[in-house]
Amino acid sequence: MAPSPCISCPVFLHHAMSQDLVKCSSSRVLKISAIRAHRVTGSSFRVKSQAPAGGAAPGPDFLVAADGAPVTLNGKKAYGVFISPGSGYRNDKTNGIAVGDAAEGMYAVFDGTHFNGGCCFDYGNAEVSNDDTGNGHMEAIYFGTGTGFGTGTGSGPWVLADLENGLFTGPNTSGVTDSNPTITQRFVTAVVKGEPGNQWAVRGGDAQSGSLATFYSGVRPNDGYNPMSKEGAIILGIGGDNSDSSQGTFYEGVMTSGYPSDETENFVQANVVAAGYAVTSMTSGPALAVGSAVSFQVTTPGFTIRYIAHTGDTVNTQEVTSGDSSALRLSASWNVVEGLANNQCVSFESRDTPGSFIRHSNFNLLVNANDGSKIFHEDATYCPQAGINGQGNSIRSWSFPTHYFRHFNAVLFAASNGGPDTFDTTASFIDDISFVVTNAFA
Ligand code: AHR
Repeated sequence: MAPSPCISCPVFLHHAMSQDLVKCSSSRVLKISAIRAHRVTGSSFRVKSQAPAGGAAPGPDFLVAADGAPVTLNGKKAYGVFISPGSGYRNDKTNGIAVGDAAEGMYAVFDGTHFNGGCCFDYGNAEVSNDDTGNGHMEAIYFGTGTGFGTGTGSGPWVLADLENGLFTGPNTSGVTDSNPTITQRFVTAVVKGEPGNQWAVRGGDAQSGSLATFYSGVRPNDGYNPMSKEGAIILGIGGDNSDSSQGTFYEGVMTSGYPSDETENFVQANVVAAGYAVTSMTSGPALAVGSAVSFQVTTPGFTIRYIAHTGDTVNTQEVTSGDSSALRLSASWNVVEGLANNQCVSFESRDTPGSFIRHSNFNLLVNANDGSKIFHEDATYCPQAGINGQGNSIRSWSFPTHYFRHFNAVLFAASNGGPDTFDTTASFIDDISFVVTNAFA
């Protein structure tokens, strides 16, 4: 492969051989030597370069769960960075990242099925001030369904470029670029590059097979994007001004100074394909079989006679026995169905209210009717893990993998250990998020 001029290390995860520190919340430290081969041994890790507050959102942004996006690479377990809204990473003090109108290139591998229309699931070059400093002050890959500027065909998601104050894929600041398709692959390789002389390009392909296609190559949008005013910070999962309402999964990426040739990028794509990305189990611990009906027994000492139940739309814990009324037993009984947002995980349908499911909303757990929306499906999808306190299962949110079913003052929340809400308190956390799953009461 022709070497790219000056490979610059991105924030943390990349398949170059540097050793970036990753700290886990239990004080263990894991050194990553290669994103494609590292194994994670804990459940909640902290990565350096937590994004600070910016013009669009306070901070620091939340950190992600290190094991929220498991994959295998040629059969070996590895983990991507599962960005939920509110989380993100940033390095404002970099070396070797392009500034001004200097040439640069970047590629990343994303989960093509994890996205939204929020601003902005980006990886690339952004402002060092964490604020929107004007058109042309960013050059980053964007993945999602954001509209209002340029888009590809269909309803998305698309690989676009965030050049600040707009997501683009062509010579104009709006309109559809016919050569930029809606992405349907599970793993997607995305490329953005730009160089002086009013030239930039957006490319993409299936990270599991085949080659890259050029979605656009030509002049920049004609509204303050030539020449560029790049600043050289590196962002992941946020916009240049710390807009943090987006979601997506990043597996690997590299930024270069210099404008890589298409041929160089084609070699990178071949190398990505050869790495053998594949999905792997999202669950652990005792299996919760789709089609079964279950009840959840609290394991916190002193509360083990309580089970997860609901009163109206509030999910709570109640004392339940096999001798109780049918109504009470049914309120504590749940159908396990295929995950509404991800069929590797599950959703829990109320036995007494068919068509209604446990979902989180502002991290409260509610029983709500399925309205068919993307957000409802995501709020109602959970990936059971082996019980964190060693008993039963801990029920982890698919869309916010740092959050688990937690009982707190007899009410259920989707809680994160040490998070900002009262119900996130670390006291008794691992017991409160661990439940023994039994056959349903009714
Ligand atoms: O360009 C889209 C977004 O607009 C940028 O990421 C952000 O800085 C601004 O809000």
